[in-house]
Amino acid sequence: MPIPAPNLYPPFNIIRLSHVDFGVRDLAASKAFYVDTLGLQITDEDDSTVYLRAMEERGHHCMVLHKSTEPHVKALSFKVFDESELDKAHDWFKSQGHGVDWVERPYQGRTLATHDHLSMPIEFYFKMERLPPIHQKYALYKGVKPLRIDHFNCFVPNVDEAVGFYNEIGFRVTEYTEDEESKRLWAAWTHRKGGVHDIAFTNGTGPRLHHTAFWVPTPLNIIDLLDLMSTTGYVSNIERGPGRHGISNAFFLYILDPDGHRIEIYCSDYQTVDPDLEAIRWDLKDPQRQTLWGAPAPKSWFEHGSVFDGLDVSESNLGASPIIAP
Ligand SMILES: [Fe+2]
Repeated sequence: MPIPAPNLYPPFNIIRLSHVDFGVRDLAASKAFYVDTLGLQITDEDDSTVYLRAMEERGHHCMVLHKSTEPHVKALSFKVFDESELDKAHDWFKSQGHGVDWVERPYQGRTLATHDHLSMPIEFYFKMERLPPIHQKYALYKGVKPLRIDHFNCFVPNVDEAVGFYNEIGFRVTEYTEDEESKRLWAAWTHRKGGVHDIAFTNGTGPRLHHTAFWVPTPLNIIDLLDLMSTTGYVSNIERGPGRHGISNAFFLYILDPDGHRIEIYCSDYQTVDPDLEAIRWDLKDPQRQTLWGAPAPKSWFEHGSVFDGLDVSESNLGASPIIAP
């Protein structure tokens, strides 16, 4: 199926992804991972919740960890351009028959909780408490020196349908993988902020969150993180990489947090703001698609993901298989 023409005048204006809220079983273990190892900064915490931001971020949080008996994802959140866009989003989701709720979220103004076409929980807000800049407080930099949250990637059972829905609300496709045989999409990368993606979709059992990515200054920070993780008890949390993606041209590493939530460390993709940018097509069987240097991803990368709180999943009916490491 061809990718849809970009919707340059969507019903409301999302500017970027904003944050993720993870349920985690052991807050101390998660803090050791995200704060002491990756280098995210704590902006607030109590016995049940920790708020984190990365070094360039002025908003209060890009990640919320809440204590939970089982690991899950509570919601994926996006920032809109102003308060009126939030009302437009409310009216649009309601008109399409999606449930809409105004919910209270600490450090945020009005927050709209709704669902996408697969009932995946998504939230929108405009106002979040602003914090003083710390990007030049170099004494605070630790771990992989995370600068900002960059994107989400979700497993979905039908990538064509996901691209159709998110295209309606303004996410533009930058790159996509097609199954040569069925001509269906196997994966797609879509953006609002002018990078390769804010949210990507991968064929598989879903909806589940495949990973959340953080942008770091250079590939060397990724090498430093690998040295740190492999000598501080986290060697089995290293899943895939380091390497350079074919898709997005970014340098990458995939790691798993103590609850199995997958995090990508990511840098150096490219600018995509042109409204007439032509999406790049990849064949599912191209060995340079996943990794420019040819190394395939492990089986776990195509199977393991984080469930959304209380949300059932469906299997994909697209049987096409990518290249998987032996
Ligand atoms: Fe990614």
